[in-house]
Amino acid sequence: MARTSRAWVAAFAQTNLQPRPYRNAAVSFRPCAASDPEQRWRLMEEVGLNVFRFPAAMIPGCDLLTDSGTTTMTMKQWSQLLLGDESYGSNEGYFELKQQVVETFGPQWENRDMDQENVFLFHQGRAAEHGLFTCLSGLLDARGKAAEAEPYYIVPSNGHFDTTQANVEANGFQARNLFSTELEARDESARFKGNMNLGRLQDLLDDAELRQRVPLVYMTITNNTGGGQPVSLTNIRAAAELCHSRGVPLLFDACRFAENAWFNQQHEPLCRNRSISEIVRLMFESVDGFHISLKKDGLVNIGGCLVLSEDGLLVERYPRLPALLVEHQILVEGHPTYGGLAGRDLKGVVEGLKTVVHENYLASRIGQVQRFGAAIDARCGASVVAKPVGGHAVYLDLDRFFADTGLGDASFPGVSLTALLLVAGHRMCELGVYAFGKQVKGEEVGPEPRVNFVRAAVPRLCYEECDLDAAAEAVGILYQRRADIPGVEVVYGQDRPMRHFISRFRFR
Ligand code: F0G
Repeated sequence: MARTSRAWVAAFAQTNLQPRPYRNAAVSFRPCAASDPEQRWRLMEEVGLNVFRFPAAMIPGCDLLTDSGTTTMTMKQWSQLLLGDESYGSNEGYFELKQQVVETFGPQWENRDMDQENVFLFHQGRAAEHGLFTCLSGLLDARGKAAEAEPYYIVPSNGHFDTTQANVEANGFQARNLFSTELEARDESARFKGNMNLGRLQDLLDDAELRQRVPLVYMTITNNTGGGQPVSLTNIRAAAELCHSRGVPLLFDACRFAENAWFNQQHEPLCRNRSISEIVRLMFESVDGFHISLKKDGLVNIGGCLVLSEDGLLVERYPRLPALLVEHQILVEGHPTYGGLAGRDLKGVVEGLKTVVHENYLASRIGQVQRFGAAIDARCGASVVAKPVGGHAVYLDLDRFFADTGLGDASFPGVSLTALLLVAGHRMCELGVYAFGKQVKGEEVGPEPRVNFVRAAVPRLCYEECDLDAAAEAVGILYQRRADIPGVEVVYGQDRPMRHFISRFRFR
């Protein structure tokens, strides 16, 4: 190469600003773009300050309520939807999805036994959780055994998501979160704060009496409840070794498996120089089954499934489970080959699973979330974001945000913050002492261990940097005026399960 061309190539190689690896193929204009804060204040009061009940069509800014089912699909996915096969039994998409599961997650997920299913389709993640824990509860008589005192069976996890916990508990099991101790330091000191607390898991499984009470162990990748933090391959392997050497099956809640693999590629020595696809297979080698809400890393708007390894410990320990799951599917979802979804949805999932492991997609996606976190801190002029920033969301640390205001837990300042953010035009949600706390005999009991966040979850392939900057600016304005933010009182729902979805509040 001539010297001048080499110089130009070198000059451009140093550019820091990376364009997105995709282009907008369709856009939806926001009819409410001109709505004003006064209108939104009125609406907010009408819905009792509950952000879930605020009409989405009236949000001019970023809707960061969730990254679940809010993905913008690719043109390839849309083209697959048109090719959907809507047969009631054994549609095309079912076979393609089973094949894709093997391609994405590895050979151990193949269905070789023609008499027994291993991929169980459901309309979303929690339906898969519900199916698993209902069937397991039936097999173990967990509800019967729970009737007397505290539930007999224990389901440990590095951090159960709220619906997982609710399904575990509704079926007579006790959910136990074994968060990593590193999570408490809300700084950059550790890269894999989503990890399982191996010491506590070992204590549990080494006690012969307690071990009998553990039908399976869960790992959530990435750990949504623990601030969206990733889990390392080393931790996965160590947890698997602990479980398997004691005869206990290990499962993943795999909603954000590709994002978890990306963090491993960046920071886990075992994954250096490996592709995302390879890392995904390495992660999934260690487990006996997984459930996944495809609304996250399936890159679709609806769908979920439960996948069991035919040779895994779960099926070995509970051989009747696959048959029970099929019966459960027929009862509540439809024929197992479509499982509550349209045939076209299955085609969209297959395409989504192919796309989600692309490295340029993941780098752009997670880079966007991380820059959003940095923008919020910059606008606030303080470190209010939990660190390091995870893969799918930015978590505002409410204990830091309100530290000098005197607003205590009893006035639920996180709820006030989300209500005022909506007046500013952006939707986030409280995942803290209100969402995870509960009322016991009229007394408020906070989450243990303490989690106290407002979460801004970033939908995939949806927003541009300027949108997120506008949301960061709104957080900054609220932070500057935090001393003026009033608390709320609960008007309805404080004593209900999963109360944050349904409660109503008013400003004090
Ligand atoms: N597990 C995890 C880790 C999740 O984040 C979710 C959903 C589920 C299970 C349930 O899946 O919604 O398809 O029934 N999380 C969404 C969120 C709702 O906003 O974090 P689903």
